[in-house]
Amino acid sequence: MIPCQRHLFDIPDDVAYLNCAYMSPLMKPALEAGTAGLARKAHPWEITPDKFFTGSDEFRTTAAQLIDCSPACIAIVPSASYGIATAARNLPVKKGQSILVLEEQFPSNYYPWQRRAEEGGASLKVVRRPENNDWTAAVLNSLTSDVAIAALPHVQWTSGGRLDLVRIGEACRKLGAALVLDLTQSLGALPFSVRDVQPDFAVAASYKWLLGPYSVGLLYVAPKWQGGIPLEENWIQRANARDFASLILYTENYDAGTRRFDMGERSNFALLPAAVRAMKQLLEWEVARISETAGALNRQLANAAADMGFSAPPEPLRAPHYLALRRKEAIPKELPEVLAREKVFVSVRGSSIRVTPHVYNTTEDGERLIACLRRIAVAKITV
Ligand SMILES: Cc1ncc(COP(=O)(O)O)c(C=O)c1O
Repeated sequence: MIPCQRHLFDIPDDVAYLNCAYMSPLMKPALEAGTAGLARKAHPWEITPDKFFTGSDEFRTTAAQLIDCSPACIAIVPSASYGIATAARNLPVKKGQSILVLEEQFPSNYYPWQRRAEEGGASLKVVRRPENNDWTAAVLNSLTSDVAIAALPHVQWTSGGRLDLVRIGEACRKLGAALVLDLTQSLGALPFSVRDVQPDFAVAASYKWLLGPYSVGLLYVAPKWQGGIPLEENWIQRANARDFASLILYTENYDAGTRRFDMGERSNFALLPAAVRAMKQLLEWEVARISETAGALNRQLANAAADMGFSAPPEPLRAPHYLALRRKEAIPKELPEVLAREKVFVSVRGSSIRVTPHVYNTTEDGERLIACLRRIAVAKITV
């Protein structure tokens, strides 16, 4: 367990922020790194050409440590949707085949596949929410010979349901299906290893569990796809990018590894240092310990909420850091605003109250949420 790290964050004592799955708070050292990076633009003469490469390389190296792969496999992207679009552009799908997604999958990992299926004469195959909460079994049952691509998360974002990606990865390889992962609701809070899962593409936006800023993320591309077609053609992806004087000697060659998939202006001098600082902190804490720490608080909350008729998928079918509380009665959409008036912050997603703590939360934060829910539950959650 990690002792409470609230001192590293700017969270007032009276704020119970239990909403990391919405957006994590930027920790003070990451804010400082980002602010210093932004300030560099006041003195552009100090931004030497090498700086366009060193910050990006540090991002790749740090991200690679987090997902257990080579830095050469990491591209820098602005969003999960950008990474998924890159995968959709490069993976083959034949007429009559299908692309596997989950029911209530996040739209950024749904729409690109809907389009890809339409364009390729393929169809979307939707894994229905399993009554027994076992998403892994449901996915494995759906992985039949028609599936060309399985586009999945590690954690289903409205239920907190966790997928066993090692088993799913194995099944995909047996079938010859590609595996594309959106790790936005898990990476940084749930251990993940490229070596174990062997996905074809995996993306994570930085602004949730990677504790980073908005508009930057990492994209893993497996070596077999690294010769693919990027979404953009920009100067810095090319082999001659380091020689600023010769950029107009156009070249057909891309820079090494996965750099061809980098977004334009990927060397963002403010966002990258903040994202890197945050990832370094995660590595120092260790993801397994973050998972345990958030999980312990969620377990207490799940037990307390059970008295009020709420239930959540049990662990290990649920990811420890991600608690989605449901009950028979519908959850009013306005509930977060009502709680926010008490400075307690959670989300409502689908038919669940989503509670997602991190190492900055205290036991009192949890107790305040439970006290609010109890008051509201007595009033039958009419708000
Ligand atoms: C599962 C999941 N993926 C991705 C995102 C963000 O997508 P994008 O980076 O395309 O805005 C979210 C945001 O809530 C999410 O919950």
